[in-house]
Amino acid sequence: MPEGGYYNSKKSDDFCEDVCGPQTARVALSLTRLRCILRGFDLKALLLLFVGVPIFIFGIYLHGQKITYFLRPLWESPPKPFNIIPHYYHENVSMENLCKLHGWGIRETPRRVFDAVLFSNEVDILAVRWNELHPYISEFVLLESNSTFTGRAKPLVFALNREKFKFAESRLTYGVVGGRFVKGENPFVEESYQRVALDQLIRIAGINEDDLLIMSDVDEIPSGHTINLLRWCDEIPDKLHLELRNYLYSFEFYQDNKSWRASVHRYKPGKTRYAHFRQTDDLLVDSGWHCSFCFRHISEFIFKMKAYSHVDRIRFSYYLKASRIQDVICRGADLFDMLPEEHTFQDIIAKLGPIPSSFSAVNLPGYLLQNVEKYKYLLPGNCKRESG
Ligand SMILES: *[C@@H]1O[C@H](CO)[C@@H](O)[C@H](O)[C@H]1NC(C)=O
Ligand SMILES: *[C@@H]1O[C@H](CO)[C@@H](O)[C@H](O)[C@H]1NC(C)=O
Ligand SMILES: *[C@@H]1O[C@H](CO)[C@@H](O)[C@H](O)[C@H]1NC(C)=O
Repeated sequence: MPEGGYYNSKKSDDFCEDVCGPQTARVALSLTRLRCILRGFDLKALLLLFVGVPIFIFGIYLHGQKITYFLRPLWESPPKPFNIIPHYYHENVSMENLCKLHGWGIRETPRRVFDAVLFSNEVDILAVRWNELHPYISEFVLLESNSTFTGRAKPLVFALNREKFKFAESRLTYGVVGGRFVKGENPFVEESYQRVALDQLIRIAGINEDDLLIMSDVDEIPSGHTINLLRWCDEIPDKLHLELRNYLYSFEFYQDNKSWRASVHRYKPGKTRYAHFRQTDDLLVDSGWHCSFCFRHISEFIFKMKAYSHVDRIRFSYYLKASRIQDVICRGADLFDMLPEEHTFQDIIAKLGPIPSSFSAVNLPGYLLQNVEKYKYLLPGNCKRESG
């Protein structure tokens, strides 16, 4: 018998003619009969059907999100381009000349500046933020809730750490909003509920017409000199996005695309709303830092992955395994195994793979470099995180 003949359809046909003739009854092996039933089928096609198709379906299950993201250029057109404003700064250039370089005049007194954030648990990053901004801020406004955006109970982490922020206490308006704890709701609903509460807290803090209001998440940190420029210059836009360098896990790993944005608004009573989406086309480049998973402990990564509005990105529970998270951080890869959110195939392909390590700690928030021991984990060459 020609063993292995059925890898070749010609040979298996010959084989079946032999055994399926009148003498079939004598050949009792059921396996042989099965081979006969399959006569006329291309065995390779069958193999493809019973092995290939399930593997394909399993592959879609594993990578469905990646496939849709890869096809993003087909289903989503790129956003409207920004009106980009070049940003000038050197510590030795006078404020008058800096304003002039941006096409603006200078004021006699600076505007008041309000920095308003929704706080979750990022104590270390809040310290970097407030130390960077405090010479220029009239009032810090901070709201926290006992619920994450995904409706999980959380401690009031700022209240527990408040004594670390004594330097801001005299200029702090602090508020707490109770979570709604609605099961199975879209996290964006709780998020916008908290933003509305923050909007009220800003008014309680005493904001007035033409004061500057910074709207950003805690981890989106405008540089101090940028806020100083905007409070001193006249004729700046009513609403302005600040483009931020986009760091992912530490101030070492970064993404070239600096698309993360904070925004600064000249407050208009009854009109200005605290929101976190694109509200203007004006964009001042290189105005600070965004560091989305700048945490000391692996447990904080897990907390944020579960707590934030994109919780649907945790498709498999092993995404939350400490050893995997540590490995992803050191490789500069994506915690949710996502593809880059780009609008051309060229950009997606260009950004596949780990983020390059920058090794630069030149243009960083001053407080980081004044406290290198405390913030070692955010500086070049320190991707290992503490467990617990
Ligand atoms: C800044 O200006 C001062 C006085 O004009 C000068 O002595 C100093 O060298 C300048 N520093 C830098 C970094 O250019
Ligand atoms: C959250 O805070 C609200 C208002 O302070 C309170 O009524 C509620 O019991 C708290 N819920 C939890 C789970 O802590
Ligand atoms: C970054 O992304 C924005 C919007 O997605 C795009 O307009 C811009 O060209 C990108 N920049 C770089 C340097 O890739």
